[in-house]
Amino acid sequence: MRERIFIGVAWPYANSPLHIGQIAGAYLPPDIFARYHRMKGNEVLMVSGSDQHGTPITIRAEQEGKKPAEIAGKYHKLFLELWDKFGITFDLFTTTGTANHAKVAQDFFLNLLEKEYIYRGKVSQPFCSKCKRYLPDRYIEGICPHCDYTNARGDQCDQCGRPLNPIDLIEPRCGVCSSTPEFRESEHFFLKLSAFEDKLLTYIRQNKHWKPNVYNFTLSYLENGLKDRAITRDIDWGVSLPLEGFENKRLYVWFEAVIGYLSASKEWAITTGDSQKWQHFWQENAKSYYFIGKDNIPFHTIIWPAMLMGYGGLNLPFNVPANEYLTIESKKLSSSRNWAVWLPDYLSRYDPDPLRYLLSINMPETGDTDFSWREFVRRNNDELVATYGNLVQRVFAFLHRRFDGLVPLPAKFDSRSQNLIDRAEETMKVIDGFLCKCRFKDAIKSALALAQESNRYLEEKSPWKVIKQDRQSAATALYVAVVIISYLKTVFYPFLPFSSQKLHHMLGFKGIIEDYGWKPLVPEPGQKLTAVEPLFRKLDEELIAEETSRLGKAPK
Ligand code: MF3
Ligand code: ZN
Repeated sequence: MRERIFIGVAWPYANSPLHIGQIAGAYLPPDIFARYHRMKGNEVLMVSGSDQHGTPITIRAEQEGKKPAEIAGKYHKLFLELWDKFGITFDLFTTTGTANHAKVAQDFFLNLLEKEYIYRGKVSQPFCSKCKRYLPDRYIEGICPHCDYTNARGDQCDQCGRPLNPIDLIEPRCGVCSSTPEFRESEHFFLKLSAFEDKLLTYIRQNKHWKPNVYNFTLSYLENGLKDRAITRDIDWGVSLPLEGFENKRLYVWFEAVIGYLSASKEWAITTGDSQKWQHFWQENAKSYYFIGKDNIPFHTIIWPAMLMGYGGLNLPFNVPANEYLTIESKKLSSSRNWAVWLPDYLSRYDPDPLRYLLSINMPETGDTDFSWREFVRRNNDELVATYGNLVQRVFAFLHRRFDGLVPLPAKFDSRSQNLIDRAEETMKVIDGFLCKCRFKDAIKSALALAQESNRYLEEKSPWKVIKQDRQSAATALYVAVVIISYLKTVFYPFLPFSSQKLHHMLGFKGIIEDYGWKPLVPEPGQKLTAVEPLFRKLDEELIAEETSRLGKAPK
């Protein structure tokens, strides 16, 4: 049966280029998952967009002396280019700046207001008398009341991950001038999270299939009790309130951004010509997956589900397979110190698949993992070039040289050959099982193991030697290799889409590989192969020193 899979991907703040930590954490995994499900013939909707509101944008705009809209526009354009070049296949990547999004967010707000899940109340807002302004949540810092971390921000503690309200901070200080802010009363709207505690607990406990890190974090968070949160702010950059008399306030970025999943689905439906189609994924039988980084967990496992429960009639997250962090050369990634590898820089020098490969096989799925350039070169050269690429290269070059570039006609398989084909069949099932559970690392490791096994097979059979005495055994071994290669192109496809597509053509198939489905596509004997092209390029070890020296320096 065709399944329906909704894939929501964290909305990146449109204030800087993306680094590979974000890619490994939140953008590559959903793309692998979407490609796999599309190949399976399932109905997939994968959406996200630029998060263009909030202090990350206004801070950047102030630093650059530009308007927030200019900053957001510039990075949104960059994101679209990056998805294209790196092969991240959103069905829609929009922004929170559209009229559609504002309308959907405002409707959501009014719906909850009517049901009294949103109520009016007074909140003490930090005001810095030296800077003469209300301090947005990220401009106020202090000690976390939960874990004593000394540099917690007014919106969230980076150490324990809990969302905070500015008033919760101990010894608060202005993030700009460090003086102690005063708290002034202002009227705001609150989301009544406390009303959802029991329902959320029941919901979370039903989700034992979540990753332990996500499940345990959410449960312990809930067990500490939920506080209502102010969801409006005294700022002028954001979505307006749909009520008169609140012209100087905006919806809080987090309340509004998560609604983006719904507004983007509605925008996508309009582009398909069937404006009700979003309902397939939100109101009918469908599974919703949310791919995010670790720091976004509570917003997707507590706040967004609570909002959805309040609204009613919309599917709750089925899974939130959040990843942990990627360190760079064993150090914590830091954008401000430029201890980061930026995706646009990477793509200006290398192909997308080698990085997709490394980030997949080394994905921070259950714990932090490290990226190093040495590892990048090693895996590229040993695994992509010497193992997978070389297998393809040897077989194809030989078939072009000695078999007129045609898939050879095999004789009856001996048991070694049959075993390898059975193993490929089994590997495909195993990978299927891993992918549908979002176990990407295990899946790609199994694919690599099959390529390694195929190389051993070819070594043993040595068709290039055997052909002198026994053309038929050589033909059989080469045929088996071609069959395995066509399995490999399919199982590697979600991870290495560019190489698999190339291989698909080299094998003499037409069109788009994804359309052929998640099944081995065995070429017929006599099928014409197209010219060999190398799948991967060997990388020079010198790049290790060169790239490493770029880290931590001001970008050019
Ligand atoms: N912009 C936020 C961040 O980068 C993520 C928002 S996810 C959303 O941390 F769903 F709320 F949009
Ligand atoms: Zn904390």
